[in-house]
Amino acid sequence: MSQIYDFLIRNATIIDGSGAARYAGDVAIQGDRIARIGALDGVQARQTLDAGGRVLAPGFIDAHTHDDRVMLSHGDMAPKVSQGVTTVVGGNCGISLAPMPRRIPDPVTPPLDLLDGTGRWFRFHRFGDYLTALRDTPPATNCAMLVGHTSLRVATMDRLDWPATAREVGAMRSLVEEALDAGAIGVSTGLAYANAFAATTEEVIDVCAPLTQYQGLYCTHMRNEGDEIDAALEETFRIGRALQVPVVISHHKVMGKRNHGRSGHTLGLIRAQMADQPICLDCYPYTAASTVLIPEMVEAARRTTIAWSKSLPQYAGRDFAEVVQELGGSTQDAVERLLPAGAIYHSMDEDDVKAILAFEPTMIGSDGLPHDEKPHPRLWGTFARVLGHYSRDLGLFPLEVAVHKMTGLSAANFGLPDRGLIREGGFADLTLFDADTVADKASFEASVQPSAGIEWVMVNGQMVWQEGRASGARPGRVLTRQA
Ligand code: ZN
Ligand code: CU
Repeated sequence: MSQIYDFLIRNATIIDGSGAARYAGDVAIQGDRIARIGALDGVQARQTLDAGGRVLAPGFIDAHTHDDRVMLSHGDMAPKVSQGVTTVVGGNCGISLAPMPRRIPDPVTPPLDLLDGTGRWFRFHRFGDYLTALRDTPPATNCAMLVGHTSLRVATMDRLDWPATAREVGAMRSLVEEALDAGAIGVSTGLAYANAFAATTEEVIDVCAPLTQYQGLYCTHMRNEGDEIDAALEETFRIGRALQVPVVISHHKVMGKRNHGRSGHTLGLIRAQMADQPICLDCYPYTAASTVLIPEMVEAARRTTIAWSKSLPQYAGRDFAEVVQELGGSTQDAVERLLPAGAIYHSMDEDDVKAILAFEPTMIGSDGLPHDEKPHPRLWGTFARVLGHYSRDLGLFPLEVAVHKMTGLSAANFGLPDRGLIREGGFADLTLFDADTVADKASFEASVQPSAGIEWVMVNGQMVWQEGRASGARPGRVLTRQA
C-alpha cells in the first residue's frame, strides 16, 4: 500500500529559498515535515491543495522583531502570519521581556516600554522561565530569542546613566549564561538609547563573554545611525572580533539629511570587513524609523508622527509639529507632556533604503512594534512590500532573491537548521502567494491592514492563515541556534 500524506500541494511554482530559479512541482507533507517534492501524480493525501501555479516559498523569517510579549498576549500573530511570516527573531535592540529578576520600575524604563507599558509582562525572573511560557502556550509562529542588554541593565543596575561596575557586569554575565543555556540564540544591544548609551565597549564585551563558548550571535542597534555611524560600525566589528562570534547589524540605515547618500560608504565598510569576520545585517523597506519619542530623532527627521502616548493618548496618529502648535509651548515642552510616548520619524532617503535592501547580504526584518496605538506600517507590511513593491514593481531584485533574503539567508545566519528552504526532510513552514498581486496594504495613514496576495501560511505542517484569517492553530516552537 502506498503512503497517504497529510497534505499534497499540487501545481506550485516553487521558489525554494536558496536563491535558485523557480520550478514547477508538487509538495507532499507528513506531520511537521516536507516529505516529498516533485511531480507527484498518483500520490494520495488527506487534503489536497491546488496551488494554481502560484508561488510556494519557505515561510518567511522576520529577522528583527519586538514580538517578545505579543507571542504570549496575542498568539495568533496576525500581523506576521498575514504576510507569510512563520518564524520571528525576538529580543532585539537591547530589549527583551526576560530575564527580570527584580520588580520593573514604574513607569517602565524606556525603551522597554515598547514591549509593555504596564510592566505586568516583565514577570519572568529567568530567561528559561520565559521560554517555558512560550512552550506551554505557543503562538502561531516559531521564534528564536535574544536576551537584551538594556533589560539586563534594568535587572541589575540602580543607575543606567553610568557604565556598569565590575559587580554589575558579573551579575549581567551570569544572566547571559543562564539565557544561552536555556536556549537564547544570542545577545542584543541598543547602545543608541539613553539607558544603554553609558555602557562602554568593554562593558558590552564583558557582559557578552559567554557568547564565545556558545557561539551565540551579537545583534546590535548600534550606538549611532547618523553622523557618527562610522565609529559605531567600528565598535560593532570590534565587539564581534573580541568575542569571536558573528555580529548582526540591526535595521541598517543612515538617518538625517546630512547623511543621505552615505549608504554606499557604510555598505562598502561592511563588505570590506566581511572578509575578516562574520557580519550579517537586516533592513526594513521604509524611509521612516520608529521607536520611543526622542527629541534628537525628531530633530533629524523631516516629519514626525506620534505612534502612542501614555500621558496624552488622544495624540496617537497625529503629526508632531501640529501637536506642538496645539499644545502651545516649545518642542521640548510637547515632548515632556507626551512622554512616555512613541513616534514615527521620516528621516531616511529612498535611494539609501534601496541600496541597503539590494545589498546581497541584507536580510529582511520588520522591526514592527506590535503594541503601538498607531504602529508604523512595517509591522503589517514589510514582507509583502519587499515582494510586491520592491521586487515586482520596481525590479530592485528578482523574486528569487527577495524570497532568499527572507528565508534561506536568514535561516543560515541565525543557525536554524531545516528552516528557510523547501527541501525534503525540512520543516513544513510554507507560504503560498500570488506573485502578481502580493502587496502591502498598510500605509502610514492606515497601518493596521493585512497584505494582499498571501493565500495561506503553514507552520510545522499546520495551517495558521487561510482565506484572509488566522486559523487559531498555535504550532509555533522555540528554535535554538546551531552554530
Ligand atoms: Zn532598534
Ligand atoms: Cu528594533
